[in-house]
Amino acid sequence: MSGQPNPQTAAPNKGTFNKIVLVGFMGTGKSTVSRLLAERMGWQRIDSDEEIERRSGKSIPELFAEGGEDYFRDVETAALQALMALEQPSVIATGGGAVLREANRACMLSNSFVVALKADEAHIIARVGNDPSRPLLQGDATANVRRLLDARRTAYDFATLSIDTTGLTPDEVCSAIIEQWTTSTST
Ligand code: S3P
Repeated sequence: MSGQPNPQTAAPNKGTFNKIVLVGFMGTGKSTVSRLLAERMGWQRIDSDEEIERRSGKSIPELFAEGGEDYFRDVETAALQALMALEQPSVIATGGGAVLREANRACMLSNSFVVALKADEAHIIARVGNDPSRPLLQGDATANVRRLLDARRTAYDFATLSIDTTGLTPDEVCSAIIEQWTTSTST
């Protein structure tokens, strides 16, 4: 069993949440795990970046180009709030910076079972290295990953459950999440 509940947040986040939110740095496997998890739970799967693009009619790079990161964060907060109000059982994958605002963290914790996926720097760089769709990594992607990882060292610690995905298959990550989510709803 690889998932470790966070004792500081586990208690207030117990309950019958019908939403599981995945948070984590870019390239930690949120998209892959969310697809598989939604399938295994029989729930719908939503990606907050895709929701932002659908609502705005613009791509993530276009939103950054238009109004900078602050503007993107405002659109992201609005999308997250709408997703947290959904009634349908949902697995929601979020963008890596969705955790940066306290209001976003509070909204996620009070409406969902929040799972942080972690991966080491080498895996992250290998996964996101040359991706033009991630504005924050343009230029020297390796240096940018290192700088952001450093700046966000503790940003994902608020989650109810943290899983280091190193050496785990997506299926094993899903099993760890389901086991902890099941426990959280039955105690
Ligand atoms: C971001 C992560 C991206 C996307 C945007 C900003 C971040 O999502 O929301 O480019 O600040 O870490 P992924 O984590 O899905 O790449």
